[in-house]
Amino acid sequence: MKPLVYTWPGYAAVGAALVAGLNAEAGEIAVRHFPDGETYVRLLTPPAGRSVILACGLDRPDEKLSSLQFAAVTARELGAIRIGLVAPYLAYMRQDARFHEGEAVAARAFAGWLSWIVDWLVTVDPHLHRYAKLGEIYPIATAIASSTTAISRWITANVTDPLVIGPDAESRQWAAAVANGANCPCLVLEKVRRGDRDVEITIPNLAGAAGRTPVLVDDIISTARTMAAAVKHLRAAGTPAPVCIGVHALFGGDALPCLVQAGVREVITCNTVAHATNAIDVLPQLADSARDLLNAWVERA
Ligand code: R5P
Repeated sequence: MKPLVYTWPGYAAVGAALVAGLNAEAGEIAVRHFPDGETYVRLLTPPAGRSVILACGLDRPDEKLSSLQFAAVTARELGAIRIGLVAPYLAYMRQDARFHEGEAVAARAFAGWLSWIVDWLVTVDPHLHRYAKLGEIYPIATAIASSTTAISRWITANVTDPLVIGPDAESRQWAAAVANGANCPCLVLEKVRRGDRDVEITIPNLAGAAGRTPVLVDDIISTARTMAAAVKHLRAAGTPAPVCIGVHALFGGDALPCLVQAGVREVITCNTVAHATNAIDVLPQLADSARDLLNAWVERA
């Protein structure tokens, strides 16, 4: 039987990519809130005997945790044979250490909870920093779809003489791969974060990159303070207006105006989190990774 995809409100494109890419069936699910704010979930397509896929991003995760849990538990109770989550953005990966006494290591706690809910997980470029692999905190099967080839293609088609720049050490993993794919040089900056909106960036000597258009590449744009600080330094150093590319467009509060004010040429993101800046489609890669993970599972069984 074909896998059954239940798609959350707001993630129609993700569900459609999975149905097409996995030759799956679109299942019907109702997710809504009662008048008191509690969550209601109903699986309208029966999951009995089916391999079930939940298509739901984890941006603004706290709004979705109850519905995901209720859907997964219900699918299991009603006889689903396997349940996976395809979340283009994986939340809570940045709080990956106890930076201050008493803090929750949310990355680990969230991974434990999610691994109890579902049997497998596929996502796009999770923020791997102090944990080098998802397997260090997720005991379930996981697969990662990479956005870097799609980003390189966009740069090649849209930027003449690019210089790819990662704004901090963690971004090297994406920036280096993107620069390699776009066949251009890559630079990684140093960042010190003092608070949610307080970021300091150090720019090295740019003499060797004169005339090139800086293309900042990072996995997440949240407050945009990281990108904005880098853009300001680059402009002050006399570069052309930089292009900013983020994989996950979280954009809280005044993030976008802050970037525009800093002097960007344009802001571009992948479509892992719906946003006006989405211009790079990575959902086919997401569906490919889900299909590969499921096929490997079936072959093993
Ligand atoms: C963290 O290290 C990430 O790679 C990003 O640099 C960070 O999340 C960006 O955050 P913000 O947009 O709030 O500066």
